[in-house]
Amino acid sequence: MNLQFNDRSVTVAIVGCGGFIGSHLLDAVLCRTKWRVFGVDLDFYRIQHRLNDERCEFLSADLSNPEVLNRIAQFPVVVNLAAICTPSRYMSEACEVIRSNYDRPVALAEACAKSGAWLIHFSTSEVYGRTGSDSGELSEDETPLSFGPVGASRWSYATAKLLTERYIAGLDGLKWTMVRPFNFVGPYMDFMPGVDGEGIPRVLANFSSALLRGEPLKLVNGGKARRCFTGIYDAIDFIFAVFAAGTNRQLNMADAGGVSEFSDSPAYSQIFNVGNPDNEVTIAELAQRMRNIYASIREVPVESLPQPEVVSGEDYYGVGYDDSMRRMPNVEKAWKLLGFRASMGLDDCLRDSLKWFVGHYA
Ligand code: UGA
Repeated sequence: MNLQFNDRSVTVAIVGCGGFIGSHLLDAVLCRTKWRVFGVDLDFYRIQHRLNDERCEFLSADLSNPEVLNRIAQFPVVVNLAAICTPSRYMSEACEVIRSNYDRPVALAEACAKSGAWLIHFSTSEVYGRTGSDSGELSEDETPLSFGPVGASRWSYATAKLLTERYIAGLDGLKWTMVRPFNFVGPYMDFMPGVDGEGIPRVLANFSSALLRGEPLKLVNGGKARRCFTGIYDAIDFIFAVFAAGTNRQLNMADAGGVSEFSDSPAYSQIFNVGNPDNEVTIAELAQRMRNIYASIREVPVESLPQPEVVSGEDYYGVGYDDSMRRMPNVEKAWKLLGFRASMGLDDCLRDSLKWFVGHYA
């Protein structure tokens, strides 16, 4: 039998519940199910409106503490979203990036393997590595993964994430599902530099900040890299498709020692790309679309906004920066196994995000 959304006895643990994806997932679980939530994070500013919800318990902690790991793993479903995932940090804080993306999730996976919890782990589309501009569709179970040299410290994050995937897939007794997000965008993404965060956020938040400040959008190495931006609400629908595919066998934790037939759900022991191939653009095109949409939201002529400026990756991010030139997901597996396909068009995603950004920060 499937996990029932109206079953009040289910508690889902969301690690990283205060982050961009986590805050949307928290809202969706509370609105779309009768479940309870055990939320873990260090920063709760995005979820202030949920802090007193009687169906939630929150813990301010990171995953370096084994007691915290055991507490999380006592719940039947654990979604791990916690990560350092802003590229500007991969070069300057490579070791902390590796700890955050390998040591901590692996320790959580071990705790889940012991308790019998189902771990839904968020990896990254960056595990496909240093893709060229002519690379084709990226498939979960077929595409070779290759990275730049060790000196290109940009890949500290991707290699840590990939090693974690391999560890999770190899861990005896663990019931797992892994997700490779392709550039999720939407309200509450990242931060506005100098207001609620420091450094360089990912491209959508960085372009939104520059537009709001009347500054030129910076096109790294000419903005030739391509991405398939994916609406956050599609991403949440995907997680619900995964939940819906989970059986309630894992709910009885006393039986956990005996979980050996993981093939009873199409979501178990699978890695899924989650992206929208229809939304592919170069970063230079993204800049133009965002300028147009921002101008229409503010009701100003687009010509009044500064033109984008080209910057070099190393000057902008620091030595060791490198890039994936194309990230085009093959999404057939999520469709075949879970019946999921992303559907939100790029302009709708950008308008929704920019409107939120303007309302929140202006
Ligand atoms: C990042 C993370 O490393 C991935 O783990 C994550 O999966 C992904 O974001 C995501 O959001 O899903 P990346 O796509 O390189 O990967 O992140 P961005 O910082 O948003 O950069 C996208 C592209 O825009 C890159 O080519 C970057 O050089 C460019 N960029 C970024 C600019 O041209 N200008 C900017 O101001 C910022």
